[in-house]
Amino acid sequence: MKSYQEMNKNELLELKANLESKYKEEKAKGLSLNMARGKPGISQLELAMPMLNVLNSSSDMNTILGNDTRNYGDLDGIGECRRLMADMMEVEKDNVIVCGNSSLNIMYDTIARSMAFGVNGSTPWNKLDKVKFLCPVPGYDRHFKITEAFGIEMINIPMDENGPDMDLVEKYVNNDEAVKGIWCVPKYSNPTGISYSDETVKRFAALTPAAPDFRIYWDNAYCIHHLYEDVHDKILNILDECEKAGHPDMVYIFASTSKISFPGSGISAIATSKANLDFILSKMTVQTIGHDKINQLRHVRFFKDINGLKAHMKKHGELLRPKFEAVLNELDAELTGLEIGSWVKPRGGYFVSFNALPGCAKNIVAKCKDLGVVLTGAGATYPYGKDPLDSNIRIAPSFPTPEEMAQAAKIFVLCVKLASVEKLLEDK
Ligand SMILES: Cc1ncc(COP(=O)(O)O)c(C=O)c1O
Repeated sequence: MKSYQEMNKNELLELKANLESKYKEEKAKGLSLNMARGKPGISQLELAMPMLNVLNSSSDMNTILGNDTRNYGDLDGIGECRRLMADMMEVEKDNVIVCGNSSLNIMYDTIARSMAFGVNGSTPWNKLDKVKFLCPVPGYDRHFKITEAFGIEMINIPMDENGPDMDLVEKYVNNDEAVKGIWCVPKYSNPTGISYSDETVKRFAALTPAAPDFRIYWDNAYCIHHLYEDVHDKILNILDECEKAGHPDMVYIFASTSKISFPGSGISAIATSKANLDFILSKMTVQTIGHDKINQLRHVRFFKDINGLKAHMKKHGELLRPKFEAVLNELDAELTGLEIGSWVKPRGGYFVSFNALPGCAKNIVAKCKDLGVVLTGAGATYPYGKDPLDSNIRIAPSFPTPEEMAQAAKIFVLCVKLASVEKLLEDK
């Protein structure tokens, strides 16, 4: 097959006419599919429905230690739930606080707390002239929205298959006192799907920040979200590595069961050093009397332990795999060799990240929308919604059925082809 890059103008014009007629046919079908957000599919949610039956009015509502979950207490979460989340996050229970229904909420609070009160006694960030955050790109739009909302300057750090460009991370963190944090999704990253290499994790732990209140925001949202049974990515434990490197307080780890039980009605947790936990709890005790312990109990009674969580996620993997394969097969079959895009086959997580020819992403997303397929907005994977190359598109295959996903993937490749031909013709 001839690459689009090798085609002359006449060949491209002929191809364009052909693609346009296919485009018209698809438009006439009047499809309506939404792949904008990485939401679990309905069949995944169904798997957690029995959780709603594990507690009822005749249930024993006490924790193992005999604390009544219906009442105040256990600000840092009920013990058995801290154990469950600790095992999921591969840390010790004493390093965990179980919070409410959303890890994003903890991240927001962590930044808000640092702005208002500083970090373990440092100057509150809102008293500083400038606060900067490093943002590996493409990344998670909602991370960037948090730092943007607080007026924190965001700096793009390119990602590759091993994680963020660590030379650049070291340069900024070790030399610029205004750099207070970095957003990371270390496993099955949103959206690139890659997991950080051991070397990357070790280099993170070995950072020597110019700012004592610099922290790594390690959002391990997809820690047990494997797509395949036989290939599980494994990343080094950042809390251990930071401790070994003599920087025990340098990292906050976040996770939740949003994409395990119910998004919006799951449980979330933060794991970090004892010193960080003490500071967080000293502020949290003013903010709240405690989180929803009945939901914590419900989760523990349903999943029981880490093996229960893993068994549940195996079923998620089985449901998600055909949807991912529907996209990946279509990309492989239709775009390989054309030199108009690249993508990575993820082994877990929720996304396929597609890099189109520079200058094409917005056009592709607009064309897909015109044909009834709604994708995440182009640019959303970058701070301020600005992809400097207008190239990255996040595909979220989880919500549609595999059949819908296959249909949507056909539309997507058609739009990629047409937008690429238009771009190449512009440049001729
Ligand atoms: C990287 C990442 N972190 C956090 C979240 C949201 O987690 P929660 O529902 O616990 O706030 C998502 C959801 O898409 C995500 O992709």
